[in-house]
Amino acid sequence: MTRIWLLIIGVLAIIVFATSLLVVIPNTMIGQVRVPKQLSPYSEQEARGRDVYVSEGCVYCHSQQVRDPVYTSDKERGWGPRATVPSDYVYDKPHQLGTMRTGPDLINIGVRQPSEQWHHTHLFNPRSLMPWSIMPAFPYLYTVRDSASITPGEVFYSVAGGKLPAGKVIVPTPDADALVAYLKSLRRTYPVPTGDEPAARSIGGRSEHTMP
Ligand code: HEC
Repeated sequence: MTRIWLLIIGVLAIIVFATSLLVVIPNTMIGQVRVPKQLSPYSEQEARGRDVYVSEGCVYCHSQQVRDPVYTSDKERGWGPRATVPSDYVYDKPHQLGTMRTGPDLINIGVRQPSEQWHHTHLFNPRSLMPWSIMPAFPYLYTVRDSASITPGEVFYSVAGGKLPAGKVIVPTPDADALVAYLKSLRRTYPVPTGDEPAARSIGGRSEHTMP
């Protein structure tokens, strides 16, 4: 009999220990996450671009996290001035932290590369800018047109590196425009929130990703 009680107490102790370790403590920590003043929610277009980023699988080659400069060379690589913190992701549901770095980290690409022309030609064909790049091209996010067919007010880009026949230009689809708007919004270089900002729990936001 005594041994059965010992077993029951042991089982309960394990449940209480595991619950506090996996539920209570993380929940308290999340409660302390603040919304940075300099970080705004994604606009409708940026959120659409984020969906394109997810569905095109950019996360399989790109991380979105700067690791602590004390232990890593992320800062020297120019990926960000400081390590990213949980509050940098309050509007990212789900976050795109990533685990692979076949390409550079992108959490601050909006600071590093603010040019739309650059992003569009790079996405259309990375080899037009970096001949050695192994990044896949995303030509289906663009329509290739005769430059003569462009009407006034239409936005188009020329592609260098011999990747288009003479006289042809690319016009971004709404998905390409949204993706570039999203990439340009990736900037997490402000100082870490100190504590007087509102709690992250107080904001709503999209709780799940929707496939386009
Ligand atoms: C198979 C791996 C792979 C995939 C998938 C991939 N990339 Fe890349 N990406 C790379 C590599 C490698 C580089 C570095 C060479 C270059 O700039 O092209 C790179 C570079 C970049 C850069 C420039 C970064 C810098 O610091 O200059 C951007 C922006 C980028 N990728 C965006 C994207 C987006 C958006 C997607 C999804 C639509 C994507 N990548 C998918 C491998 C990948």
